[in-house]
Amino acid sequence: MKAIEIKPGIFWVGAIDWGLRDFHGYVTPNGTTYNNYLILDKQVTLIDTVKHDFHEITLDSIKSVADPSQIVNLVINHIEPDHASSIDKIMEIAPEATIFITEKGKKGLDRHFDTSGWKFRIVKTGDTLNTGMYNLMFVETPMLHWPESMMTYIKEAKLLISQDAFGQHLASSTRFDDEFVECSSLSELDDAVVDYYANILMPFGQLIKVKVAEIQKLGLEIDMIAPDHGIIWRRDPQRVVQRYLDMANSKASPRVALIYDTMWHSTEYMTFPMMQGIKDEGLDCKVIKLRATPMSVAIKEFWKSRGCLIGTPTLNNIMFPSVAEFLTHLRGLRPKNRIVGAFGSYGWGGGAVKEAYEEFRRMGLESFEPGVQVLFRPSAEDEAKCYEFGREFARKVSEYHKKFE
Ligand code: FEO
Repeated sequence: MKAIEIKPGIFWVGAIDWGLRDFHGYVTPNGTTYNNYLILDKQVTLIDTVKHDFHEITLDSIKSVADPSQIVNLVINHIEPDHASSIDKIMEIAPEATIFITEKGKKGLDRHFDTSGWKFRIVKTGDTLNTGMYNLMFVETPMLHWPESMMTYIKEAKLLISQDAFGQHLASSTRFDDEFVECSSLSELDDAVVDYYANILMPFGQLIKVKVAEIQKLGLEIDMIAPDHGIIWRRDPQRVVQRYLDMANSKASPRVALIYDTMWHSTEYMTFPMMQGIKDEGLDCKVIKLRATPMSVAIKEFWKSRGCLIGTPTLNNIMFPSVAEFLTHLRGLRPKNRIVGAFGSYGWGGGAVKEAYEEFRRMGLESFEPGVQVLFRPSAEDEAKCYEFGREFARKVSEYHKKFE
């Protein structure tokens, strides 16, 4: 691919991964991109590399505007392999280049590569690099989303290269937000932002608020945000920053995600009256069957909703495996400010619903108890109970949601 100029002398030289459908377990139905950026100035500077399988593609892009052996600075914002696994190939081509990286980033690289012959400059927030007409400033962003992460701000271009933050797993023929919205829609772009945040950044909401405040305090003028995945924000970069702040402040819709699995449809039959009860209380209800839905989609729908009901049959006295897997995954994402409840069917002895509530307590979520349990098939009386449970839960969600308005 040819390099694409995003600011005078600054080029996107990344790669589009149309076929990616599984990003370490996170399902990516829209593929992704690995964005990296080349500054053609007195000192040729490359910011980030790409996933190793795509090295030849980024190399072609670099070659379309520059001789890659002329790279003298290599800035590494983040060492996760989708951005850093072709550093060795760049260093083979430009062995005299200096790598600008945080201290923890260097320690990580030392574990992945033989770095003994490489030149490093360890940087921290406020350190700068002059490439000629451009001044780069580094801003450490530890735990956003790895301990070594940082961003690079290019003052004269008013450009923030933000690594994973503000990114999306979205392969597209368009590079910029305005182009994407024209070809597709703002809601599709927004959905990709929420999906990415929910699955990767959910645990770090408090840090996001602190880091955004710190960047605002630095008084950096920003008119473009270029992440390491997906679309570059140039039309209204402040919009995505505000979107992040909203999510970090636990903004969600007053609706219910009804997430379940089922063995012989009994737990599934419970969802219909429950859904009706929720709707009759005026709330939207998104129903998701776990084995029919990628985990990352279920996580996103959980995150978009103020309330969530988990449906699980009992299997061998414990939760159904797909439900246990979902809740374990969710616990790692440290969700906050959501209200949850549980229901399910059982044959001989119960156990799954109790276990789901134990998991809610481990997560520190507000829980609506007791849940509903049904022996074998739900009877007409059980269905009426499920309907009432749905209504009561919806009322509780509406009341709880007021705390965040
Ligand atoms: Fe896109 Fe954290 O890697």
